[in-house]
Amino acid sequence: MGVASPADEVRALTEQLRQWSSAYFQEDAPLVPDADYDSAMNRLRQIESEYPELAAPDSPTQRVGAAPLDKFSPVAHRLPMLSLDNAFSAEDLEDFDRRVRERLGAPAVEYCCEPKLDGIAVSIVYQHGELVQAATRGDGETGEDITQNVRTISNIPLQLVGQGIPQYLEVRGEIYMPREGFERLNARARAAGDKVFVNPRNAAAGSLRQLDSKVTARRPLAFTAYAVGVVEGDLPTRQAQILERLQTWGLPISSWMSVVQSVEGCERYFQRLQQARASLPFDIDGIVFKVNAIAEQDRLGFVSRAPRWAIARKFPAEEVSTRLLGVEFQVGRTGAITPVARLEPVFVGGVTVSNATLHNADEIARLGVREGDTVVIRRAGDVIPQVVSVVESQRPEDAVAISLPTACPVCGSAVQREEGEAVVRCVGGMICAAQQKAVIRHFASRKAMDIEGLGDKLIDQLVDSGRVRTVADLFDLTAEDLSLLERMGKKSSENLVSAISDSRQTTLPRFLYALGIREVGEATARALASHFQRLDGIWEADEESLQGVDDVGPVVARHIVSFIGDTHNREIVERLLAAGIRWPALTSSTGEGPLAGSIWVVTGKLETLSRDEAESRLRALGAKTAGSVSSKTTQVVAGPGAGSKRAKAESLGIPILDEAALLAILEEQS
Ligand code: IVH
Repeated sequence: MGVASPADEVRALTEQLRQWSSAYFQEDAPLVPDADYDSAMNRLRQIESEYPELAAPDSPTQRVGAAPLDKFSPVAHRLPMLSLDNAFSAEDLEDFDRRVRERLGAPAVEYCCEPKLDGIAVSIVYQHGELVQAATRGDGETGEDITQNVRTISNIPLQLVGQGIPQYLEVRGEIYMPREGFERLNARARAAGDKVFVNPRNAAAGSLRQLDSKVTARRPLAFTAYAVGVVEGDLPTRQAQILERLQTWGLPISSWMSVVQSVEGCERYFQRLQQARASLPFDIDGIVFKVNAIAEQDRLGFVSRAPRWAIARKFPAEEVSTRLLGVEFQVGRTGAITPVARLEPVFVGGVTVSNATLHNADEIARLGVREGDTVVIRRAGDVIPQVVSVVESQRPEDAVAISLPTACPVCGSAVQREEGEAVVRCVGGMICAAQQKAVIRHFASRKAMDIEGLGDKLIDQLVDSGRVRTVADLFDLTAEDLSLLERMGKKSSENLVSAISDSRQTTLPRFLYALGIREVGEATARALASHFQRLDGIWEADEESLQGVDDVGPVVARHIVSFIGDTHNREIVERLLAAGIRWPALTSSTGEGPLAGSIWVVTGKLETLSRDEAESRLRALGAKTAGSVSSKTTQVVAGPGAGSKRAKAESLGIPILDEAALLAILEEQS
């Protein structure tokens, strides 16, 4: 073995430590014991102190390793960090634009549009390209020195690279916690019995306020630059170009930044982002519109604490408070019992909400919530509204503790909690009317057997009257049976019978999905069908061969085997097949069609096609479609609102097409 030069050793250690640090701090999945990590870090420190010329400013030794602080030192901002005026409606925005045009004497103004990230504003100073200081906004005049913590954030360069870097460059932007990281952090905290954070913003703030930067390093924080402060050197003359220039030096900017020519363009951008909001990988609370030309910004100037050249158009609030009227326990398809909060109706996230999930008993205990409490509700996008906290200062004297069910609230069967699971389940299985109803609702739903006209109310009546207990019973129903139910005339009864009958002609993936096997969603059902081609194949498979299917891991495999092993389930499936459920034989998707061999993921909202249609047309051309992006993915089709899947594709370098490009391909290949 040859002796490595110090430079080679530094290179090797740096690469090794980068990999280990990211596994350790970001993924919380250490690749090596701490001792190995520490000794590699110590070795690198040692070489760097012997050969200072080999100590790179962005060396792993520079990200973490500083001793904990006693307190944060104050930092005076050379230029105050301002806030923004808000616009709450299209009219407010038009008023803003009119004032800008009048002052500039211009018929229309070019604006730079950026999402308003919901995090913490920071100022980061680079001298000769090297990160030397980072501070919070504080009161706008004086902030706190959080340099050590900011150095641990992996997408903040410690050293800028490229041409024309100003000798002094103050970058301003937002530090935030992406949603996925926030969920992971809270899941970890919950598992450890620690305090969970109410929202990503609080989590980001709490993470930055750590005196020990090793704690911050474990938090999934990210940064996006949106402005510059003091600059000694040259920069372009437009906001958007400045940000693009920052990007060339290694600073992250928003991939959603866009330049528009007038207030109409601003409004269109706002609508587009409002649509996309729910599926973005991070929280935003509005859009910031900035006059794009810096010369025009300078002419407009400031009023008190806010610039005249920028405005934040806010989205409807995603968090509001309301009163908890009571808690109801709902029993789902698999028996899981979920506490649901009944609320005094409130407008949140753009809709009126009167129910919110409380998840499970642990969550009720964690929140310490009582009936009658004022609670904070959060509804982000299409996500189910959640109770995030209790306003204890407003607790009425007669607030009542919530009692948990000791038996199934619907069928009275015992309840059970599986090891390692937070949910309590009714053990009644198919004797439980709530589970019967939920199973039938799922079976009849649009993406399953798609039985038109079989709605929730009707299912309740059918089960409550004892006419239907299992999905197989549906096929024995006659128009006479149905016409005895409330609000069912002769015509609608006949229509329903024929809708049930028509549903028998289906596809294997739909049928598999309709069975409601735990953890078998649409994508898994499709993967099973295309792997085994026939129902028999799946029926005879053991856990091991099931795991040979893309998308199927050990847990899913176990659920499938236990579903099939159940005599009641087998009986139902036999009755369904005897009732005439049929699907066309599958043609193998390998080797046929112009797109054979490729794997596509469709995400976001498409305009001319639905996502289902897009996927089925791709499959008709021989492509495989998948629900998640991985290194095996060939192409991603991203419509507006595409969030984490698009980001993942970008990070893996997988080509991303928009809807127009997809349509062109479908056209060309069909
Ligand atoms: S520009 C003079 N751009 O919103 C302009 N601010 O109320 C200063 N924010 O504290 C701000 N995203 O932390 C700007 N794309 C963006 C932003 C943004 C989030 C925050 C910022 C500031 C607050 C202003």
